[in-house]
Amino acid sequence: QRTATVIDGKSIAEEIRLSIASEVRKMKESIGKVPGLAVIVIGQRRDSLTYVRNKIKACEEAGIKSIMTELPDDCAEDDVLCALSNFNEDSSIHGILVQLPLPQHLDEGKILNALNLEKDVDGFHPLNMGNLAMRGREPLFIPCTPKGCIELLIRSGVEIMGKNAVVIGRSNIVGLPTSLLLQRHHATVTIVHEYTKNPEQITREADIVITAAGVPNLVCGSWLKPGAVVLDVGTFPVDDPSCEYGYRLMGDVYYEEAVKLVSAITPVPGGVGPMTIAMLLSNTLDSAKRAYD
Ligand code: GUN
Repeated sequence: QRTATVIDGKSIAEEIRLSIASEVRKMKESIGKVPGLAVIVIGQRRDSLTYVRNKIKACEEAGIKSIMTELPDDCAEDDVLCALSNFNEDSSIHGILVQLPLPQHLDEGKILNALNLEKDVDGFHPLNMGNLAMRGREPLFIPCTPKGCIELLIRSGVEIMGKNAVVIGRSNIVGLPTSLLLQRHHATVTIVHEYTKNPEQITREADIVITAAGVPNLVCGSWLKPGAVVLDVGTFPVDDPSCEYGYRLMGDVYYEEAVKLVSAITPVPGGVGPMTIAMLLSNTLDSAKRAYD
């Protein structure tokens, strides 16, 4: 039996946030300006509210200015577009983030299209996503969770080039951009989703598994090759009164089984989640640097 490395996303993210905070201080000293992030959150989803609170708190700790706009569940599309347009024009704001998913009645495509491309710190605008997908092009921003996953692999000494990587899930937020980013790092990428036949046969061939399905315990021992590296991006909420907000998140991986087999694995919580926030701060800082260059 091998001992897996438990990849400590929380402490790696803290290290990154400290170095961002020091760059922010330098920017303030040299030009008297700090990066600014605007966060728009619509409705009352408890997971979205937790994510957004954590993002705002991380900004404060890094010295990044943040503004949060909360809109009601039943707000009109024009209310969102109006808030967006104000932030698009505001020169003290370098990053704008619309927390997803949106309430049913809002057109996500239309809203993401309205983002100022140069402030799209989530990398969700179709032009940023398109540039991520196409060879020979560079997106202005890489989506935070996929970028955090790659950063974890690199910092854990996991080679990506030439490896078989399997991404479970094909969402716009995680699965799709993660698969594109892995290709940019020269992995051979296979995407597994809800219609895939015999997914465990495919994942068993993977050197790297990144899973974002939202199905607790989906990835059990029989899905994994011994020695594989597993990043768990699952975020399934289950009630738990002993936790801060009355719930906790469950990953996709059957951790107790997987940890006995793999060479490295991220826990939930404390794995990929904190990295998403660190990458958001990093994208916001990069954007401010570009703006003041
Ligand atoms: N919902 C889940 N993850 C994310 C994220 O990284 N950004 C935004 N805007 N919404 C999300």
